[in-house]
Amino acid sequence: MADEKKKPIKTKNPKDPQRRDFLTLATGVVASTGAVAATWPFISSMNPSTDVLANATSEASLKGIRAGEVKTIEWQGKPIFIFHRQEKQIATMEGRGEGFDPENDSDRVKRPDWLVVVGICTHLGCVPLRKKEVWFCPCHGSVYDNSGRVLVGPAPRNLDIPDYKFIDPDTIVIGKEQV
Ligand code: FES
Repeated sequence: MADEKKKPIKTKNPKDPQRRDFLTLATGVVASTGAVAATWPFISSMNPSTDVLANATSEASLKGIRAGEVKTIEWQGKPIFIFHRQEKQIATMEGRGEGFDPENDSDRVKRPDWLVVVGICTHLGCVPLRKKEVWFCPCHGSVYDNSGRVLVGPAPRNLDIPDYKFIDPDTIVIGKEQV
């Protein structure tokens, strides 16, 4: 009888693995819930205000912008260049461009006669100036073509294209409407 193996006895020992796993899980759930509750006011404060939502889109009339001219409007505090391109300017922009950030012109416009770009240099954020047939950044000399593609650095990439759509032949809306 002395050799008889003793059966393990179930106890409420806190070192019981199953109980320990449950306690660990429960503690984690409570901690996570507390963390979300603590950060919610902060996260909530990051939601756009009513003013920001109201300015989420900007409408621009294309009437009066002659071929070859650029109109600059403001959208969410950024300059937007609306460029009415001439036939010859469209023709010379076809293809992927000559710069180091190749991109098809047709992928950068919704209509070939209108280029819409964010007028902020992709290097350090200066506003490029229109000079003859290019945009020239006065800060460090970057140059962009008539598709907004970078030809000369230090700008690392092409001018950004904002979300926009034509709502009629003479009007575009820039930005996405918030729901
Ligand atoms: S900010 Fe335009 S080239 Fe530097």
